[in-house]
Amino acid sequence: NLEVRSTRPFYHLTPPTGWMNDPNGMVFFKGEYHIFYQHNPDDIVWGPMHWRHAISSDLFHWKDQGIKIEPDEIGTIFSGSAVVDWQNTSGFQTGDEEVLVAMFTHAGNLQVQSLAYSNDRGRTWEKYDNNPVLSKVGDFRDPKVFFYSPEQKWIQVIAAGDRIQIYSSLNMVDWVFESDFGPGIGYTNGVWECPDLFPLKSEDGTEKWIMIVSVGGTSEYSGVNGGSATQYFVGDFDGNKFTHENDEILWADYGIDNYAGITWSDIPNEDGRRIFIGWMNNWHYAGLIPATEWRGAMTVPRQLGLKKNSDNEYFMTFEPVEELLGVAGKNETYNEAVQEINIEDNEIIQSGSFKIKTQINLSNNSFFELKIYNSREEVLLKYDKNQAVFSIDRSFSGNTHVHNLFVKTIKCDYAIKDNILPLEILLDQSSIEVFVNNGEKVMTALIFPRYEFNDLKITGSGGSELIQGLELVSIKKTVD
Ligand code: FRU
Repeated sequence: NLEVRSTRPFYHLTPPTGWMNDPNGMVFFKGEYHIFYQHNPDDIVWGPMHWRHAISSDLFHWKDQGIKIEPDEIGTIFSGSAVVDWQNTSGFQTGDEEVLVAMFTHAGNLQVQSLAYSNDRGRTWEKYDNNPVLSKVGDFRDPKVFFYSPEQKWIQVIAAGDRIQIYSSLNMVDWVFESDFGPGIGYTNGVWECPDLFPLKSEDGTEKWIMIVSVGGTSEYSGVNGGSATQYFVGDFDGNKFTHENDEILWADYGIDNYAGITWSDIPNEDGRRIFIGWMNNWHYAGLIPATEWRGAMTVPRQLGLKKNSDNEYFMTFEPVEELLGVAGKNETYNEAVQEINIEDNEIIQSGSFKIKTQINLSNNSFFELKIYNSREEVLLKYDKNQAVFSIDRSFSGNTHVHNLFVKTIKCDYAIKDNILPLEILLDQSSIEVFVNNGEKVMTALIFPRYEFNDLKITGSGGSELIQGLELVSIKKTVD
């Protein structure tokens, strides 16, 4: 156990070799989830961007498909999206099967938008002959396309520096400007990138439109806990313009390592889910994290929900998709209500890839601490009821020389209701994702323990009956 551990996650998507950043072109078609990602095949730092592809039928077992869209004389291949062109509006369909169309940023002297398409269920991709299809001077990137059925037209949201722009089209080739969202709205300390726009039903049946905007913050004080982070807006879209209604700034993740996330296109109506995945990293130190042959990972795929807070404002919830149950292995349960839990020399914990599901009762305790550790290192989660703050301390989690931000406590405001706090925690070799109260708040952080963790301990402020049951579940390796 003194060997240097591998940091490669068991059940989070990583590049076989080379560098990974943003998730791109996520589309569901004929039983397959497609994902592409920003990829530099020749180095483990950011460089000439390619789209590398992976396919899964369950969002966990990913089969690498290699590089599908490569740089050319127009530029390298920045972020973008993909859709199924069900009605062949583009005219790119050649056979009986629907054509998949990807729209991405070609980054050369200018950032311009281009198309590629596939007539064989995503196996091979051809670039459109007359690329680019949309150009403008300045920051102009990361087009996310969807079909707006009320008006039978395509909509694209695209980041333009300090604002998001909305364009429409009947065929994805000719685009018309519709409206600006921003500048000066929400969190503005950094360049706006990687937008998404989609409808989402709340638990009370109301439908709202969500605009996701990543912000490439550049300081230790930007974003939510430093560096880059992803905000979202709740509001309405009328086919031309998005208007937001939220007063406070809402974040997709209140941790530190979740950026450039967007959602899958074309998940069938009968499924009805909206699934999000983000790049589990932070631009502030992404090029510095421990790595030898590959660098970068995605978050766990998360299902979005919509709820109202106590001020009657809508906010999104994020929960691991249910397919996670399908990759669960061994399971241990602790049922009694107890004040303290000590699990030592535990095989599931030693595997480094597991889930903890527990319910904390703070009626008789003003705080609790949950520690995952070995004799030298620990990750410490804490909830303080009086301050209403949830925190992750990774300052003793192993290799923290990566960056200053590894020794700074990650904090998230959270006011508890009814003293009961359901928690779901995912560990996967080099990451921790904490889902508070069924995804009402999520905190994601990278960790680089040098030795395997062995133990888990939960304690409170000294009251009684803190822990109302706990389940420890190992999660299998999904990459062969
Ligand atoms: C976001 C981003 C995008 C861009 C891509 C380049 O992380 O900066 O705006 O398309 O990365 O790799």
